[in-house]
Amino acid sequence: MPLRNRGERPGPLLDLSRVAELRAVEDGDPVRLGAAVTYTRQLEELAEPLPVLALAARTIASRQVRNRATLGGALAIADPSADILTALVAAGAELELASASGGRLLSVADFLTGPYERDLRGDELIVAVRVPRAAGPAAYAKVGARNAMARAACAVAVVLDIERRTAGIGVAASAPTPVRATAAEELVAAEAPWGSGGDLDAGFVSRVGGLVAEATRPRSDGRGSEAYKRHAAAVLAGRALARAWRSDGSPAAAAPPRSRFARPGQDATGLRLRVDGAEHELPEEHTADSLLRVLRDELGVTAPKNACEEGECGSCTVAIDGEIACACLVPAVQAAGCEVETAAGLADPEGALHPVQEAILEAGGVQCGFCTPGFVMAARDLLRRVPEPTAEEIREGLNGNLCRCTGYQKIVAAVRLAAGR
Ligand SMILES: Cc1cc2nc3c(=O)[nH]c(=O)nc-3n(C[C@H](O)[C@H](O)[C@H](O)COP(=O)(O)OP(=O)(O)OC[C@H]3O[C@@H](n4cnc5c(N)ncnc54)[C@H](O)[C@@H]3O)c2cc1C
Ligand code: FES
Ligand code: FES
Repeated sequence: MPLRNRGERPGPLLDLSRVAELRAVEDGDPVRLGAAVTYTRQLEELAEPLPVLALAARTIASRQVRNRATLGGALAIADPSADILTALVAAGAELELASASGGRLLSVADFLTGPYERDLRGDELIVAVRVPRAAGPAAYAKVGARNAMARAACAVAVVLDIERRTAGIGVAASAPTPVRATAAEELVAAEAPWGSGGDLDAGFVSRVGGLVAEATRPRSDGRGSEAYKRHAAAVLAGRALARAWRSDGSPAAAAPPRSRFARPGQDATGLRLRVDGAEHELPEEHTADSLLRVLRDELGVTAPKNACEEGECGSCTVAIDGEIACACLVPAVQAAGCEVETAAGLADPEGALHPVQEAILEAGGVQCGFCTPGFVMAARDLLRRVPEPTAEEIREGLNGNLCRCTGYQKIVAAVRLAAGR
């Protein structure tokens, strides 16, 4: 969708993100996830019933992106490297589709027909995904060009069912769609030392890895050669299987499980937008523009900066009803009736800066300052969720924000400083 400033303005938008049924999670077996359930919710609410989804979601993009991106969007795009699709394929998930003429149920594996191709008719909506409840540990192993914000060059999801003594193994980015490695699954089912308490021996893990590599049909591209991807599939499969077997790919490794299935619905209140405490009317002709464009060009709120316009740099980070997001990726209509906060509104009424802003100044974390409002919003979000973050947690919390001049040491130091206050 041409949300970008320099692109054309799209026609009327139908915003489905507030439809309660699409946002709902029904906790049973299978667990039923509405198509508008975000990655953050998969990570924070579903780690216990669906650890493989939580583990895969954790590797996707940044918190800003995970707070908005949905299952339905990922399924409709059908990217062969999509992490969540790989987890769904490994878990044997099914999909509910609906149109005015009726509904269909089909497996996610059958729904994905090729790179960016799927069995979705023009009049159909993806309504929900049904994922078998976990009956054992899971693991997700991914390799990309960098540690964060990287699409997979290869990734492997492993789901173990301890009672039935079966394994689900999905591979990303190594075939036209995420695929199941069925021969490898059969080997694990038949020969793994189920119930013995014993570890997997290296020879067995390597045989499983070999069969996973055989299930792939990789093509050389900018993320790696065919040979590299096949090798990566074998290595990652061995790692993920060993990790799941030892159970350190358990839900706790992804995030503390929470049972927060109910979530209050967002109420749209016309086209009003509350930005840093001030009420604005959102002109109807701008509802399909990006929130960033509306903030900067229509409302004159210039703290969120415009750089990449594709969710990669975090310069445009704002909070929408308390959850950070890239304003460049959010259609303005989705923020209607919401409270939008920017770095410009964080100072108190007397003008005293927010502790994170003070700390960034004090630690020398600003040079040109272009990235600073985005870092301030991401750091504030991190400290609200994790008041005393470790260095690793700080780096993870800020991994959706790029700085082109200061480097990151001083920014990380600033977050530590702010945490102590
Ligand atoms: C910066 C960045 C980094 C990323 N990194 C990763 C990564 O590391 N790993 C990864 O797997 N993915 C990654 N992604 C991709 C991300 O997973 C997808 O962009 C996201 O899942 C799309 O979801 P959405 O809700 O934003 O979809 P939208 O952009 O809102 O929608 C995408 C398409 O799907 C259609 N659609 C949406 N919902 C439905 C529905 N219910 N029924 C029918 N059609 C529907 C829309 O009409 C649209 O055509 C990244 C994206 C960004 C921006
Ligand atoms: S401008 Fe939005 S993430 Fe870069
Ligand atoms: S201070 Fe210049 S981009 Fe970060």
